Amino acid sequence: MSTVVMTGCATGIGASTRKALEAAGHKIIGIDIRDAEIIADLSTAQGRKQALAQALEQSGGMLDGLVLCAGLGAQFRPVGKVVSVNYFGAVELLDGLLPALQRGKAPAAVVISSVASAHLPWEKNPLAAAFESGDEAAAQAIVSAAGEQGGNLAYAGSKNGLTVAVRKRVTAWGQAGVRLNTIAPGATETPLLQAGLQDARFSESIAKFIPPMGRRAEPAEMASVIAFLMSAAASYVHGAQICVDGGIDAQMRPTQF
Ligand code: NAI
Repeated sequence: MSTVVMTGCATGIGASTRKALEAAGHKIIGIDIRDAEIIADLSTAQGRKQALAQALEQSGGMLDGLVLCAGLGAQFRPVGKVVSVNYFGAVELLDGLLPALQRGKAPAAVVISSVASAHLPWEKNPLAAAFESGDEAAAQAIVSAAGEQGGNLAYAGSKNGLTVAVRKRVTAWGQAGVRLNTIAPGATETPLLQAGLQDARFSESIAKFIPPMGRRAEPAEMASVIAFLMSAAASYVHGAQICVDGGIDAQMRPTQF
């Protein structure tokens, strides 16, 4: 049986992915603020340190997989937590768990980014410098000072930074023998999406975000792609971002890919 650490396994895409991976025979060590083997708050440096220490302890320092699902939506306040969980909560776990993954069998990691990662290109991402230097306080200050735009900036900026961080690790992880990929979900029926729909600042834009397929995704439709990326069937897929979005990225950016 292989051992996989997962963040954000309590609800939504993460809960569905946990089920799919367990059905495929993986043992899951979940990290979340509730309903998980490791209860930790990934929005703080202390919480991330504790999550890493417990994940290494519970896995015996050897891991076959890592799935990073934990994330906060644009509506979440304080807005600084959105960059902390979505970017720092993922990147610190990636880096901290690479040595344990290197000791695993056919190891693979999947990071849940978003179609929003392409809405704010890296060259125009106001958070890029803070991410490059690992300056969490500076990133939080930028989104906090952005007023009404802070939520969208924090979400799109953190997801853009996350996909870039994964792509920049592709050489080191390839050489370490650990496959690393992202998925970019479109609108998916989860508590995060519901919270956005119930927030007057975001409800209209979310409601209008309907892809060519004419409906939003179910969490299981993300879980099946994540399970594929974690499996031997994806043995040559490395450094990819797979859009699982009903066609909305192609519709919005037909000439960019
Ligand atoms: P969700 O709200 O159902 O799940 C998020 C999970 O992260 C929950 O289990 C939650 O407890 C956990 N979490 C939140 N804050 C945390 C913290 N401080 N420390 C540890 N765990 C924490 O939302 P959903 O939609 O399943 O989101 C999963 C991922 O998918 C997120 O990264 C989200 O950004 C991404 N995504 C979701 C989309 C959607 O339309 N639902 C679209 C694109 C990306």
